[in-house]
Amino acid sequence: MSAKFLLILFFNFWLSTAQNNDATFLRALKDKWQNTPPNWDDNSDPCSGWDGIGCKDSRIITIRLASMDLRGTLTGDIGQLTELQILDLSYNKGLTGSLTSEIGKLKKLTNLLLVNCGFSGPLPDALGDLDSLIFLSLNSNGFTGPIPPSIGNLSNLYWLDLADNRLTGSIPVSTRTAPGLDMLTTARHFHFGRNMLSGAIPSRLFHSNMNLFHLLFENNQLTGSIPDTLGLVKSLEVVRLDRNFLTGNVPSNINNLTGLFEMFLSNNQLTGPVPSLTGLDALNYLELSNNMFDPSEVPSWVTTLQSLTTLRMNNTGLLGELPAALFSLSALQNVDLSNNRLNGTLDIGSSHSNELQQVNLQNNQIADFTQRNQYSIEVILVQNPICTESGTSGGFCSPPTKNGPSYFTQPNNCETRSCGSGQVSSPNCICAYPYTGDLVFRAPSFSNLANSAVYENLRNDMIRSFRESQLPIDTVSLRDPRIDFNDYLVIKLQVFPSGGERFNRTGILGVGFSLSNQTFKPSDTFGTYFFTGDVYDFSAGISGGKKSSNTGAIVGSVIGGCVIVALLIVAGIYISRKKGRAERTTNESSPFALWDANNGSGAVPQLKGTKAFSFEELSKYTNNFSETNNIGTGGYGVVYKGSLPNGQLVAIKRATRGSTQGGLEFKTEIELLSRVHHKNLVSLVGFCFDQGEQMLVYEYIVNGTVKDSLSGRTGIRLDWMRRIRIALGAARGLQYLHDLADPPIIHRDVKTNNILLDERLVAKVADFGLSKSLGDANVTHVTTQVKGTMGYMDPEYYMTNQLTEKSDVYSFGIVLLELITARNPIEKGKYIVREVKQAMDKSKELYNLQGVLDPTIGLTTQLKGMERFVDIALRCVEEAGDPRPTMSEVVKEIESIMELVGLNPNAESAANSAAYEYASNGSAHPYTGDDLFAYSGDHFSAKLDPK
Ligand SMILES: *[C@@H]1O[C@H](CO)[C@@H](O)[C@H](O)[C@H]1NC(C)=O
Ligand SMILES: *[C@@H]1O[C@H](CO)[C@@H](O)[C@H](O)[C@H]1NC(C)=O
Ligand SMILES: *[C@@H]1O[C@H](CO)[C@@H](O)[C@H](O)[C@H]1NC(C)=O
Ligand SMILES: *[C@@H]1O[C@H](CO)[C@@H](O)[C@H](O)[C@H]1NC(C)=O
Ligand SMILES: *[C@@H]1O[C@H](CO)[C@@H](O)[C@H](O)[C@H]1NC(C)=O
Repeated sequence: MSAKFLLILFFNFWLSTAQNNDATFLRALKDKWQNTPPNWDDNSDPCSGWDGIGCKDSRIITIRLASMDLRGTLTGDIGQLTELQILDLSYNKGLTGSLTSEIGKLKKLTNLLLVNCGFSGPLPDALGDLDSLIFLSLNSNGFTGPIPPSIGNLSNLYWLDLADNRLTGSIPVSTRTAPGLDMLTTARHFHFGRNMLSGAIPSRLFHSNMNLFHLLFENNQLTGSIPDTLGLVKSLEVVRLDRNFLTGNVPSNINNLTGLFEMFLSNNQLTGPVPSLTGLDALNYLELSNNMFDPSEVPSWVTTLQSLTTLRMNNTGLLGELPAALFSLSALQNVDLSNNRLNGTLDIGSSHSNELQQVNLQNNQIADFTQRNQYSIEVILVQNPICTESGTSGGFCSPPTKNGPSYFTQPNNCETRSCGSGQVSSPNCICAYPYTGDLVFRAPSFSNLANSAVYENLRNDMIRSFRESQLPIDTVSLRDPRIDFNDYLVIKLQVFPSGGERFNRTGILGVGFSLSNQTFKPSDTFGTYFFTGDVYDFSAGISGGKKSSNTGAIVGSVIGGCVIVALLIVAGIYISRKKGRAERTTNESSPFALWDANNGSGAVPQLKGTKAFSFEELSKYTNNFSETNNIGTGGYGVVYKGSLPNGQLVAIKRATRGSTQGGLEFKTEIELLSRVHHKNLVSLVGFCFDQGEQMLVYEYIVNGTVKDSLSGRTGIRLDWMRRIRIALGAARGLQYLHDLADPPIIHRDVKTNNILLDERLVAKVADFGLSKSLGDANVTHVTTQVKGTMGYMDPEYYMTNQLTEKSDVYSFGIVLLELITARNPIEKGKYIVREVKQAMDKSKELYNLQGVLDPTIGLTTQLKGMERFVDIALRCVEEAGDPRPTMSEVVKEIESIMELVGLNPNAESAANSAAYEYASNGSAHPYTGDDLFAYSGDHFSAKLDPK
């Protein structure tokens, strides 16, 4: 044997064993950890399928161990895994000790995710050696000391989250000799909140080459003034500088940041004029409270910020009158201007946003308030002259209510199970052990926590994202949203496993990674988040209890003298297992494919009389969804008129991207709708679930909405007899939903915009597609998010969130009052119920209501039965649900009014309406009016062509 040959042999051997050091070093790491996955003990090769370990060519490239309840320390051995790209040890609170500087050897590491662990001590300078790093998430640990300036060397860094630690010192910027964070021009996220950073925010930190989206410095000890260089970072979307000790003027170029969605400057010591924010038209959330601005009137730019949902200027020196124009901002949800010196009269106006929830003017100088009956808005005027001096004791003189609305994901049209200990009934009513934790959103765009649609969207986005990542999840549920003391929105998450009652380890670390790596991205409504996962009990409910961990340490500490021996052993294993474990790519077809209208699989829901249309078909029937076929637009999308090949006219409700629901929810809705058949309900002809579209195809109702006819827009004259008939038809439709549909359905949005008239003027109730069904016939109410339309909403439902059939009865009472007065429920700040009650005198003819009746109703001498009609309407709008009649009692009463008038309640409606039409007053298109949707909530109200 020649020496050369020997050398080559040795060289080859050396090469292969060097690669396999990875196994040795991972086992060394394992020695310091408890609770590693049990299959790590089955054999000694991590690349043979150890849970959480990903390999390529026998080198370890990913370690993902989120939420494994690991305990121990992270030793320097980690630095030897030089091919490592992803290290995710998030949500293991038992991982303690400091972060080893050996970590700097991982030149290929792109994602270092140590969220919500127990690490402490200083951040090593060596972090700056991680040349490939893109994601650095070290938030929610106990790190101390300064931010290493070397982080400025990470030229690929996109995400830097150091929040919620105990970091001190100032924010490092570069000098001639040292790097700094100003060099991070690829970074989009600086999340440094909830630390103890001090000193001034360096002006050098910001320059026009920075590309930051989120600048989160809240809750530190920063001093000095806000540098005016901030105005150069035009990419900024969220700025949180609140809860520091900032002083001086807000730089005047702040309004150069025209892409800002959320800005928090509250709880500082800012002085000078209130900053001008003219032109920040994207701004959703503005929080300026508790600063020391010069006293000034409410700035005029406030009323120009069309996207504003939330305005908080508590204790900011405001004086003078509050402009009513503020309340006409269409997205406005919450206003807090407490602890100022606002005076004069509070005027909220009648055209305020449907979402307006609370106006807090506690401790101001307000002497009067013009609309006191808008119970749907919480107005707080305690500690104002109107409450302290005049002895007024309206509800608005009470302090703000503390307990906010509660949301939790409702069962998906099934009956909640009672489950064994530790198990939870999922939204699909399957008992399982969910993976749980808190989603924390640091800068949401909204403050009204009552809109369940917002959470449903989040939930659907999350389910979709998890499925795209091939995670073994069945569904997720959300609950108990709340704003915490940092103004973060916290929502509890439960993730349910598919195909079994529990997750295994790959399932949990996969879901954990999806959240620690931000692979799941919520919509801009929520902004960025972080997640804190709870410990998952993999053996819950399994008799025999927990397996002991860590019994299989084979090689032990090998870094010392016996390296060669270890290498030999490893080499042996290497030879026997050449093949690295590839990432599983289960080619499971998506659950959506199951009933895609096109794939013709037997799993398409079999629905009586309801057809699945393809996208192409509906496109053809609507002339490619042309503008001329557009007959209405609502919160969920657009309604098109279409014509089927058999000549039938249809109204097609097409959800816009972004307001679609999950496939299962959509399927459930269709199954529910297709079971509902009644001549006073608009029926579903078909649906389309194809090419990412969700459309519902309804029969087309020619004469439009009752509201259109009452307002004279359709040219159909509604005399007294017709109005009684419409009332009866609509009442019967609702009675069917309450008493005969299975499961019972509560409409939730009864209004004249949702009652349509067919060619014989038969009333048909529409838009119960998004209604809440009562899953269990024995349950009398559902706790749910308040939804509905201003003016029609049941006050009891609004206050308790408990939805019962009586909520529909209330709204129907408003419809009855509208039928006789033709007034909007709230018109010029006047509430219809109050107007009728005030004008009413039971001792007089027609209860003295001639002044409020619609003049087109006919001669008042012929209004037989009117008094009884008013009586039943007012019983429907009783404040409390109990005394209100049921829909079937309402139907009986209207039937008897009809008999009194001399009509047969069971006869089909009279002749074709065309015979009764009189010329409409010349409007080109009956649906061009601006106020058409003024009273429609999120729901669709199809505008239907009367021609
Ligand atoms: C604000 O932006 C405008 C237009 O981009 C620019 O001309 C102006 O110099 C900026 N002002 C400041 C102070 O940065
Ligand atoms: C206004 O700020 C004060 C602190 O100055 C705080 O105590 C109070 O709760 C705030 N009010 C509201 C309505 O947020
Ligand atoms: C409201 O306050 C402003 C400014 O302090 C003052 O000029 C005005 O007279 C006050 N208005 C009323 C009605 O008190
Ligand atoms: C873990 O669960 C997934 C999906 O449920 C499954 O594909 C995989 O085989 C399971 N792994 C083990 C080791 O049982
Ligand atoms: C981690 O998240 C980033 C962006 O959020 C994504 O591009 C990347 O693919 C994710 N990594 C993995 C391995 O999924």
